[in-house]
Amino acid sequence: MATNRKTPADLVIRPRDRSFHCGTQNPRWWVGNDPIATAYYNAFSASFPTVERYFIEALLRYRDRAGPQLQKEITAFIAQESMHSREHVTFNRDSICNGYDLTRIDAFLKKRLDWARSLTPLRQAASVAALEHFTAILSYEVIDDPRHLGSAPAEIQRLMLWHAGEEVEHKAVAFDTFMLAAQSLSPPARWLLRASVMVSCTVLLFDFFLFAVADFFRQDGIASAATWVRFLKFVFVAPGAVGHVIGPYLSWYLPGFHPWRKDDRAVIAKAERASAPQPAQATSA
Ligand SMILES: [Fe+2]
Ligand SMILES: [Fe+2]
Repeated sequence: MATNRKTPADLVIRPRDRSFHCGTQNPRWWVGNDPIATAYYNAFSASFPTVERYFIEALLRYRDRAGPQLQKEITAFIAQESMHSREHVTFNRDSICNGYDLTRIDAFLKKRLDWARSLTPLRQAASVAALEHFTAILSYEVIDDPRHLGSAPAEIQRLMLWHAGEEVEHKAVAFDTFMLAAQSLSPPARWLLRASVMVSCTVLLFDFFLFAVADFFRQDGIASAATWVRFLKFVFVAPGAVGHVIGPYLSWYLPGFHPWRKDDRAVIAKAERASAPQPAQATSA
C-alpha cells in the first residue's frame, strides 16, 4: 500500500458535466425491491444537495489564500459538488419524491446545518474534511463491490457511480484545506482538533442517518424492531457497506493520516468506466 502524506502532484480533479435521466417510473424500492436498502441510499441522496452546499461554502472561504494547486483543486471540488447537487435534486424530485415526503428530513438537516454554520470557519473546514472522509470511504466501497448497487436500475447506478468516483477523486481537497486553515496550530493541537471534530461528525451523521431512515420506514409502514434488525444486518454484515469501512474510518485518527496514503486511482477509473454514458446518450449529448 502506498503511504503518501500528500495529494499526488499529478492528480487532476476533473469535473465531468453529466446529466442523468433516471425518470419517474422507477420502483418505489429501487434497490432490489428492498425497502431497507432503498432507505439507506435514499437517506444519502436526500442529504446531498443541502450538505454539499455547506461543503462548498466552507472551502470557498479559504480558496484565495491557498497555493496555486490547492486553489485549482478547490475550484474543481466546487464544480464537482455543484453538479452532484444538481443531479441529485433531479433524482430526488423525480424518483424519491414520487413515493416519499422529504419535508421532515429536510427540516432536520436544515436545523443541523444552521448550527454548523455558527461554528468558526476553522471548525467548519474540519467538519467538511471529516465528512468528506466518510463520503470517500463509502464511495470507494460502493464502486468496489457490485453487490451494493447491482440491483438498481442502470441509469441510477450510473448516477451513483459517477458521483462516487468524483468523491474519491476529490477526497483530499477538504483535508488539504483544513491543513491550510489550521497551519498556525501545532501538530498535536491540529490532530486533537480534527480527531474531536470527527467524533462529533460521526455522532451527527449517525443521528441524521437514523432519523432519515426511520422516516422512510415510517412512511412505508414498516417501522418495527424486525426492520431495524434487518437494517443493522444490511449496513454491517451483508452487503455491509458500513461494516467494511470501519478500518478506513479509523485510519483518520492516525497522527500522520492523509487521504492519499492509499492510492485509489484504480477505483476512480473503475467508476468512470461503469458510469460512462450509453451510446445513445453519448451521440445525443
Ligand atoms: Fe458530492
Ligand atoms: Fe465531496
